[in-house]
Amino acid sequence: MGFSFIGSVLFLALLFRSNFGQQQYEPIPNTDEYFVYDLFQKMGHVYNVSAPVCSWQVVVCDANQENVIGLSGASLGLFGSIPDNTIGKLTKIQSLDLSNNQITSLPNDFWSLNSLKSLNLSNNKISMSLPSNVGNFGSLERLDLSGNEFSGSVPDSISSLNSLQVINLKGNRFESTVPLGIISCRSLTFIDFSSNKFNGVLPNGFDSLPKLKSLNLAGNEVGGKGSDFAKLGSLTYLNISKNHFQGSVVEIFHELLEVVDLSSNRFEGHVSQVNFGSRLVYLDLSDNDISGESFGDLSQAHNLKHLNLAKNRFLEQRLIKIDSLRSLEYLNLSSTNLVGGIGNEIALLTHLKTLDLSSNHLTGKIPLLSLQKLQSLDLSFNNLTGEIPIVILKKLPWMERYNFSYNNLTLCDSAFSPETLQSAFFGSTNSCPIAVNPTSLKEKTRKHKGLELALVLTVSIIFLLGALLFCAFGCRKKTTMWAVKQDSYKEEQVISGPFSFQTDSTTWVADVKVATLVPVVIFEKPLLNFTFSDLLSATSNFDRGTLLAEGRFGPVYRGFLPGGIHVAVKVLVHGSTMTDQEAARELEYLGRIKHPNLVPLTGYCLAGEQRIAIYDYMENGNLHNLLHDLPLGVQTTEDWTSDTWEVDESNGNGIQNVGSEGLLTTWRFRHKIALGTARALAFLHHGCSPPIIHRDVKASSVYLDYSLEPRLSDFGLSKIFGNDLEDEITRGSHGYIPPEFQNRDGNSSPYVITPKSDVYGFGVILLELITGKKPVEDEYPDDNSSKDLNLVSWVRGLVRKNQGSQIIDPKIRGTGAETQMVEALKIGYLCTADLPAKRPSMQQVVGLLKDLEQL
Ligand SMILES: *[C@@H]1O[C@H](CO)[C@@H](O)[C@H](O)[C@H]1NC(C)=O
Ligand SMILES: *[C@@H]1O[C@H](CO)[C@@H](O)[C@H](O)[C@H]1NC(C)=O
Ligand SMILES: *[C@@H]1O[C@H](CO)[C@@H](O)[C@H](O)[C@H]1NC(C)=O
Ligand SMILES: *[C@@H]1O[C@H](CO)[C@@H](O)[C@H](O)[C@H]1NC(C)=O
Ligand SMILES: *[C@@H]1O[C@H](CO)[C@@H](O)[C@H](O)[C@H]1NC(C)=O
Ligand SMILES: *[C@@H]1O[C@H](CO)[C@@H](O)[C@H](O)[C@H]1NC(C)=O
Ligand SMILES: *[C@@H]1O[C@H](CO)[C@@H](O)[C@H](O)[C@H]1NC(C)=O
Repeated sequence: MGFSFIGSVLFLALLFRSNFGQQQYEPIPNTDEYFVYDLFQKMGHVYNVSAPVCSWQVVVCDANQENVIGLSGASLGLFGSIPDNTIGKLTKIQSLDLSNNQITSLPNDFWSLNSLKSLNLSNNKISMSLPSNVGNFGSLERLDLSGNEFSGSVPDSISSLNSLQVINLKGNRFESTVPLGIISCRSLTFIDFSSNKFNGVLPNGFDSLPKLKSLNLAGNEVGGKGSDFAKLGSLTYLNISKNHFQGSVVEIFHELLEVVDLSSNRFEGHVSQVNFGSRLVYLDLSDNDISGESFGDLSQAHNLKHLNLAKNRFLEQRLIKIDSLRSLEYLNLSSTNLVGGIGNEIALLTHLKTLDLSSNHLTGKIPLLSLQKLQSLDLSFNNLTGEIPIVILKKLPWMERYNFSYNNLTLCDSAFSPETLQSAFFGSTNSCPIAVNPTSLKEKTRKHKGLELALVLTVSIIFLLGALLFCAFGCRKKTTMWAVKQDSYKEEQVISGPFSFQTDSTTWVADVKVATLVPVVIFEKPLLNFTFSDLLSATSNFDRGTLLAEGRFGPVYRGFLPGGIHVAVKVLVHGSTMTDQEAARELEYLGRIKHPNLVPLTGYCLAGEQRIAIYDYMENGNLHNLLHDLPLGVQTTEDWTSDTWEVDESNGNGIQNVGSEGLLTTWRFRHKIALGTARALAFLHHGCSPPIIHRDVKASSVYLDYSLEPRLSDFGLSKIFGNDLEDEITRGSHGYIPPEFQNRDGNSSPYVITPKSDVYGFGVILLELITGKKPVEDEYPDDNSSKDLNLVSWVRGLVRKNQGSQIIDPKIRGTGAETQMVEALKIGYLCTADLPAKRPSMQQVVGLLKDLEQL
C-alpha cells in the first residue's frame, strides 16, 4: 500500500517536471532558442517542450535553425514584465506578435531590435511612456500598440521610422499633441490614434502625407478646422468623431472619400453646399451645428448605406427627396427639425434596417412601412396620431426594437409580451405616454386565461396586469397633461421608497427615496440611463418568482432590462463597511476583469445600503445543480426557462442543449469544466495585479454559459462585503473549507488567506466531478466507521490505497478514459493537501490537467 502511494506521487512529480521542461528538452544557453524558451518559462506559459524551440508552431527560425526571425505569441496567457535577456536578445527578429496577453512592461534591452518590421503588442496591460529609442526601429513597417496603458507623449524620434506604413495607438492614455515627427513618416497609409487624450492642433504639414488612406483620431481632444484634411488626396477613411474641430464642414469632402465620421464636433455650415461624392458609403455628421436643409446634394451619394444627420441645427424641413438614397441601410434623422408627415416614399428604401426619426415635429399618421428588413424603428417624441399599424408591430420578420413613446398614438392590440411593451413604450410602467385603451387590454388578458400554455402565460398575465395597473393610472394623468401643459410630459410618475423585499431566508431593504433617481451602471452601455426602477420592473419588484438562488451574499434574481438585456441580479444583502465611492470603484474594477472562464460583471447599482451586482445571465445553470441532478439553475419556484431550453436546440456552435441529464455523462466534458475553472482561478491568481483570491470556490459558483463553456462567478465580491462577516466569508462554504480554517478556536492567530485556499476548493470540485458525490452529506461507501466522513477524507483514503478507480462516478465509468480519471483524482489529492504549501499553484494545476489529455 505504502509503495503504490509513493508511486503515484512520483508520477505526479514527473508530470510537474515535464511541465517545467527540465526533463525532456533544454536548449543551449545564450542561443535564440534559449531566449524564447526562457521567456515562456518566466512569463507563465506552460509550453509543450518535448520538441526544439524552432519547431514550435509559434516560432519561425532562419534556414540554419539558428536565429529566431518570427515569434507569433498572441493569446498565450503571458503575464507580467518581459524580463531582460529574453526578447531583447533576438537580434534578427523581424516579426514579433505578443498581442492579447497580460504583459505589463517591456525590458530596457527591447529597443535595440533594429531588424523588426512588424511589432504587435496590442491588447496587453503595458503601462509606461514610449522612450525616444523607439526611433531605433528603422525598418519598422507595422506598429500596433493599441489597447494598452501607454501614457505621456509620442516621441518625435518616430520621424526616423521611414518605412512605417501602419501605426495603431488606439485605446491608450497618450496625452500630448499629435507628434510633429509623424509628418516625416511618408510611407504611412494607416493611422489610428483614437481613444486617447491627444490634444492641441495637428502639426503643420500633416495634410501632406501622400499615401495616407485611413485616419482615425476619434475620441481625443484635438482641435482644428475642416481644411486641415483637405489636401490628404489618398484618404478614403476619415474618423474625427468626438473631438473639438469646428468651422465649416464644406472643405473636408473630396471625391475619394468612402467613410466619414465627423460626429460630436462643432462643425457648422450649410450642408447643401457640400459635394459628398459618389463613393461615399458611410456618413455621420451627427451632433454638430450644421445648418441648412439636409437633403440638398445627397442625391448624388447613391452608394450611401449609413447616414446619420441627427442633432444638428437644420432648418425646418419636410422628409422628402430621400427616395434617391436607395442603398440606405441606416437612416438617423433624430432632432433634425423635421415637420409634416412621414410620406409613403420611405417605403422605397427597401434595404433599410434602422430608421430613427425621433425628436422631431412629425405629424399625421404612421404609414404602413412594410420595410421587410427593418430591425429598429424609433419614432418617439413627435406629434404622430392615429393607430400604430399592426404590420410594424407583428409582420416584419427582423424587427427587434421599436419606440413610439411620447406621441399621441393609440394601440388597440395588446397581445404583446411585457418586454415588448416595455421597450417600445418608454416608461409604459411608470408614465405610459401613449393612449392605451385599458378596457381592451383587460378583455384580451381574460381571453388568454383560457389557453393552454399555462406557465408562460401566467407570467405574462402578471406582467400585463402590472403594466395595466400602472397604465390605468399613468395614462389618465398623461392625457390631461398633454392637453393642458405640453412640456411637462417628461415628468415621470415617482416611484418612491424605501422598499422592502422578502425571500424565504431574509428580508432586505433598499433605502431609496426616488427609484428613478438611483442610477444603474451598465459598463458596456454607458448611454443607457437605467435606474433602480428598471431593476424593479426587470425583476417584477424583486418578486420571489424571479429568484434564482439564495447565495451566501444574498438573493440572486433573474430579469430582462429594457432592450432585452438578460441579467442575474445579485443583492449583497449584508451591507458593507465600504463607502459608496469605494464600493463603486471596486465594482468598476471588477467590471474590467474579463476572461473566457469568468462570468462577466455587467454592471451595478448602489441602492441605499445595498450593493447590487449585475451579471450576464448564464443559460445553462451551475455545476452543483447539474452534477447533483437538481433543476437547472433554479432552486426555487417554477422555471419557465425550460421552454427556451427546448426551442433553442442548436446554436451557431453546433452545440446541442440536451437537458441536464445528458450533459455530464462524458469525462471529456467534465474535464473541460475542470480545466476551464482552473484557468479562471489561475488567471485571478497570476494574471491580475494584485492577485484576486476568490475565497468561495465551490461547484455552485461554476456556471455554464450558452455554449456550455464553464465560467466562475462571484470573484472579488467578498471584498465588497461587510467586515463583520469577514470571518465567515474567508472560511468558504461548507464542504469546501480548507483545513487551515477548520476547528480554529478563538485564540489561534488569524490565518492569512492565500491563493492556496482557493486551490483547496478547486480540489474539492475536481473530486466532485470525478466521483459525482457531494462534498458532504452524501453516501461514501466502504466507510470504515469514521463518523464525520466527507468527500475529501474518503477520496484521499482510497487514493492512498491506490483504489481510486473504484470511486469513479458510474455515469462516466467504462468510457475508456479511466487512466485519465485516476490521474485526475491524484491532482485532486494534491490540491486538497492539508498543508497549504503542499498544494500546487493554479498555474501548475492547469498544466497538469492539460497533460491528462495526452494520456
Ligand atoms: C508536443 O510535441 C511533440 C513533438 O513535436 C508532438 O508529438 C506532440 O503531439 C505535442 N503535443 C501537443 C499536445 O501538442
Ligand atoms: C495585431 O494583433 C491583433 C490581434 O491579435 C490583430 O487584430 C491586429 O490586426 C494586429 N495588428 C496588425 C497591425 O497587424
Ligand atoms: C470612429 O472611431 C471610433 C473609435 O475608434 C469608433 O467607435 C467608431 O465606430 C468609428 N466610426 C467609424 C465610422 O468607423
Ligand atoms: C441617432 O443618432 C443619435 C445622435 O448621434 C444617437 O444618439 C442615436 O442613438 C442614433 N439612433 C440610432 C437608432 O442609432
Ligand atoms: C405637437 O403639436 C402641438 C399642437 O398641435 C404643438 O403645440 C407642440 O409643440 C407639438 N409638439 C412637438 C414635439 O412638435
Ligand atoms: C390626440 O389625438 C386625438 C385623436 O386621435 C385628438 O382628438 C387630440 O386632440 C390629440 N391631442 C393632441 C394634443 O394633439
Ligand atoms: C424610446 O424613446 C425614448 C425617447 O426618445 C427614450 O428615452 C427611450 O430610451 C427609448 N426606448 C428604447 C427602448 O430605446
